[in-house]
Amino acid sequence: MKKIIISNFKMNTTPSEMKTYSMALATKTSESKNQIIVCPPFTHLCVAKQFLDGSKVSLGAQNVSSEEKGAFTGEVSASMLKDLGVEYVIVGHSERRTKFKETDRLVNKKIKTALANGLKVILCIGEDLASRQAKQACAVVKKELDDALKGIYENELEGVIIAYEPIWAIGTGKTATLKDIQKMVELIRKEIAYLYSDKAGQQINVVYGGSIDIQNYKKIISLACLNGALIGGASLNVDNFAVIARENY
Ligand code: PGA
Repeated sequence: MKKIIISNFKMNTTPSEMKTYSMALATKTSESKNQIIVCPPFTHLCVAKQFLDGSKVSLGAQNVSSEEKGAFTGEVSASMLKDLGVEYVIVGHSERRTKFKETDRLVNKKIKTALANGLKVILCIGEDLASRQAKQACAVVKKELDDALKGIYENELEGVIIAYEPIWAIGTGKTATLKDIQKMVELIRKEIAYLYSDKAGQQINVVYGGSIDIQNYKKIISLACLNGALIGGASLNVDNFAVIARENY
């Protein structure tokens, strides 16, 4: 089954390293049947574009401004990314929500701006440990989903990939159990069906992220309910990421 395999470099590596990485990844994944997306920092996008051109790998950014253009020092707009050949953007990652205080409202606005400019969105949602322990995980995920998709039309959902990333599993070496992932993916599909239609619930792409590595990737990504994975730490090693990206699931 074809899966979507996404890397998230976070604030790691340099543009020079991106050149080597891109060349290696393009070669190692030339036979892959999966959809591969790399999301390096903004500074790496030009070089990544140059060395991934003609390969199986698409380019994503890790963030985008909610504004179209203007006096927003330090921000990067959706049209700038689009012009560069970027196809995807990660929105609502928990590190942006917690460390940069991004609200559900801002996440919603970013999604609208990205979609309006022809970018596809990788929307991250997921509960923290306290919510899970308080048995509030489902409620948190549902609310994040509802708020993020406010005002988004059903026909725009083909440009949206939902990444279920429990916060307590990110960078911790702890993954959610297969059963928990399955349960949450079901809930996400049900909520999409409720908000839009049964068809939308079935067709929406849902991936899992949180401590996926070279040891555990296969059993997680092979889950029939999942369309793929978002990989942070383990994607920094091009050999490991290429193994995951070219696997037959
Ligand atoms: P991790 O990060 O794979 O290092 O846990 C995933 C993510 O934050 O997207």
